[in-house]
Amino acid sequence: MRTLDLYDINLNLLDLYLKKFGYCYFKNYDKLIVENLFSQAKYFFDKDQNYKNKYEVTREGPFSQKYDKLGYFYPEEETVASSFQKQNENIYSTINTKCEANQEFEASPGDLKESFNIHEELSIYDYPDIDNFKYDCLNAKNYLYSISLMLLLSLEKILNFNPGDLQSQHIYTKNGSTGSVLRLLHYPIYKKYNNNSYRIGKHRDGTTFTLIFHDDVYSDLQRFENEQWVDIQSRENSFIFHTGWNLQKLSDKKYNALTHRVDNRGINNDRYSLLYFFAPNKN
Ligand SMILES: [Fe+2]
Repeated sequence: MRTLDLYDINLNLLDLYLKKFGYCYFKNYDKLIVENLFSQAKYFFDKDQNYKNKYEVTREGPFSQKYDKLGYFYPEEETVASSFQKQNENIYSTINTKCEANQEFEASPGDLKESFNIHEELSIYDYPDIDNFKYDCLNAKNYLYSISLMLLLSLEKILNFNPGDLQSQHIYTKNGSTGSVLRLLHYPIYKKYNNNSYRIGKHRDGTTFTLIFHDDVYSDLQRFENEQWVDIQSRENSFIFHTGWNLQKLSDKKYNALTHRVDNRGINNDRYSLLYFFAPNKN
């Protein structure tokens, strides 16, 4: 149930799962590419704080209109839930999320996570000085980009777009890069934290869709449904595919963007995840 084969996608089921749940699972991806990336992420996040802080990247110019920052984000730096309520709904954040304009997020403290964010505008000099780190990141980013384009073809068919219509909005162009971002995430152990803090607070992604990889079947990911938080379990050898804000728009609200968070039940254990935010290009 709810797991589809990446290379033999049942379009009726994909349509059903996205309408009903806002997410599903895909199996048959290239595990080696993903495992290599997990190894690199663990190695990097295990470095001391001074080392990691060297890899914060901020940019001026066209880049900063949509992405004010890339590279490393230190723990509690970012509040996914609250940082967007001040912004216009049409503005993408660094990691392609949008919050719901809601008072409850006003005083949200920072999320209990650290991350490293990869976009094609990250220069080759911005990567940590770790053997194969850059190679494994770029390899994974290219792979996830290509399977995302493949997944987009299925959505084109289900939503009755002309072939290539959605793809052309998401591919690299002469004048602009894609809006997609690969994010390595680490949820460190916390002994003490503010009661309003979550590993990631309630939000929706601004993406077309998001791919989530866990290296463990244990997960604290939850979705908000009928005023309740419901667990999204991890599955072995599968990644999670969920809807974002842009797909809600493209599908004329046939699919709603998944409202989700990462709660703190596993806060006594380190956890890692890899996210691929697949979003339209900047044109
Ligand atoms: Fe998200």
